[in-house]
Amino acid sequence: MIQVQNAAKKYREDLKKGFDILYESEECVWGLQADSYLDTFIKHANRGLALDIGCGEGRHSLYLAQKGFKVDALDLSESAIRKLENLIRQYDMKESIKPVVGDARDIDLGKDKYELILLSFVLPFLRKSDIDLVIAKSKIALKDSGCIYISALTIEDIEYKTYRESQKEVDERTFYSPGLMCSCYFFAHGELKKMFSEFEIIDYTEATVKLRRPPYSHSFCLLFARKRVG
Ligand SMILES: C[S@@+](CC[C@H](N)C(=O)[O-])C[C@H]1O[C@@H](n2cnc3c(N)ncnc32)[C@H](O)[C@@H]1O
Repeated sequence: MIQVQNAAKKYREDLKKGFDILYESEECVWGLQADSYLDTFIKHANRGLALDIGCGEGRHSLYLAQKGFKVDALDLSESAIRKLENLIRQYDMKESIKPVVGDARDIDLGKDKYELILLSFVLPFLRKSDIDLVIAKSKIALKDSGCIYISALTIEDIEYKTYRESQKEVDERTFYSPGLMCSCYFFAHGELKKMFSEFEIIDYTEATVKLRRPPYSHSFCLLFARKRVG
């Protein structure tokens, strides 16, 4: 039992350490441009308070602030939040964005609080049990008619194929990423959509996107959904 607890603690520390190192080593790791998918579907969300879970350097928090939202920007990496704080100063957005260091698995996300929640490219780095936990907390934190945007990796992803050839699965569709010092979860076809069966699905897409740097492509599932009233 103690061994299992120690392994879980180390996994949490490593996840944070991996991202801290990543954010310290580059100027702006994920760039400043928001996902075009989010831009397409943002019109469905009511303006109000938004939560950007795993905000990184905050490209989406900045985008949402420009679109008229107040944003709680949460990330477990202190170095990510430090970079976001610099951007908030640079773009004079202190009134619109509240940066928070914290782990979405541990902190209280509240109840009926947000008009919009983002989980952009965060779930791939969590174990399936933690994905279930964060999604459950997000559903509670959304107001009635509130929207959620999620992007994650699927089993079509090139890294899924590479990992499968070179590694043993840590868990179902989960492999260890030495680069990020954490595990990587790959969604099955339609799995993410099924997790929101009680929501109105505004859009669900699975697509492969080309990248300029390794691994040169990623295969995503993208969801934009609305919490039904009541
Ligand atoms: C690939 S980055 C994506 C950043 C940003 N969402 C974007 O799309 O540009 C994943 C981010 O999720 C954060 N993260 C991972 N697990 C988290 C957790 N349990 N709670 C809060 N942040 C988390 C990481 O620190 C990292 O900044």
